[in-house]
Amino acid sequence: MSESPSAPAPDRNLALELVRTTEYAAIAASRWTGRGQKESADGAAVDAMRLMLDTVRMDGTVVIGEGEKDEAPMLYNGERIGDGSPPLVDIAVDPLEGTDLCARGLPNSLAVIALAERGTMFDPGPCVYMEKMATSRSLAHLLDLDRPLGETLALIAKEKGTPIGDVMVIMLDRPRHDEAVREIRDAGARIRFIPHGDVSAALIAVTEDSPVDLLWGIGGTPEGVLSAAAIKCIGGKIIGRLWPRDDGERSAAAEGGYDVTEILDTDRLVAGDDVFFSATGVTDGDMLAGVRFTAQGATTESLVMRSRSGTVRRISATHDRPKLRALMGSRVD
Ligand code: FBP
Repeated sequence: MSESPSAPAPDRNLALELVRTTEYAAIAASRWTGRGQKESADGAAVDAMRLMLDTVRMDGTVVIGEGEKDEAPMLYNGERIGDGSPPLVDIAVDPLEGTDLCARGLPNSLAVIALAERGTMFDPGPCVYMEKMATSRSLAHLLDLDRPLGETLALIAKEKGTPIGDVMVIMLDRPRHDEAVREIRDAGARIRFIPHGDVSAALIAVTEDSPVDLLWGIGGTPEGVLSAAAIKCIGGKIIGRLWPRDDGERSAAAEGGYDVTEILDTDRLVAGDDVFFSATGVTDGDMLAGVRFTAQGATTESLVMRSRSGTVRRISATHDRPKLRALMGSRVD
């Protein structure tokens, strides 16, 4: 069979290289599960991810990282990663999304990374939080941050052909959400509260036929961009709006040229067409199993995706203990 002359040649799927960075970050963080030391867990994940990122051939700039250079020794915003060869990419990392979840041995902590063409990822700048709404492809047209939440939930129920009492909203358990909680309860819908981890929550909310219909709430802007990268690959939709906590943040946003009234949709958060995403479970969760240690080594489960091809892979890996130790030293002891 001859190939069509116009068919683009397959190129490198960087996600398949990135999965190594999230696997090793997850293994390193997992040693700290339930030990009550958030910083150590996060530090271990950062260190392991950084080590593996050196092996990826790319010219990358960290757009979403561990903070400014003076506060983060590695994976700081603006850091150049890779050997400098093409492609030119923006990188968003969260080596341990849900540091508290890991430190307390709770579900849904992940190691996460996303890549997109240079200049296409939304830079959160000084804007720590944003309002977010995310849902599956079939309900995407109903997202609206200005419509009363109760009305949106009624529309979701109608679209699904179910009573509103069947509709499930996932949200961070925070006092800033009290009014929304009242609206949801008054409307008769249900809520799954989570202590942390709204990237995992966004993933379950956009998954068709999952137990969750809608992610709503104010959470981290960096996590919003990471969620958008995943959603570009897996389908569904996220919308957001920056949420300054006080006048100081409001003026910092204005000085940085941010419009805090703008609705940021999936394509505004990550404008690229060739987006790569990898997440590995640290603790067991809705989307991914956590790291397991065995006499022989460790097992991991990852979600590995590329937007251009639409390929979504679930990768289970077995890591040999002596070889892991040779590669990662005390990071896995
Ligand atoms: P960390 O992994 O940085 O601890 O973030 C966890 C997280 O729960 C995110 O998933 C979420 O977007 C954000 O923190 C919410 O922020 P806050 O805990 O300040 O409400």
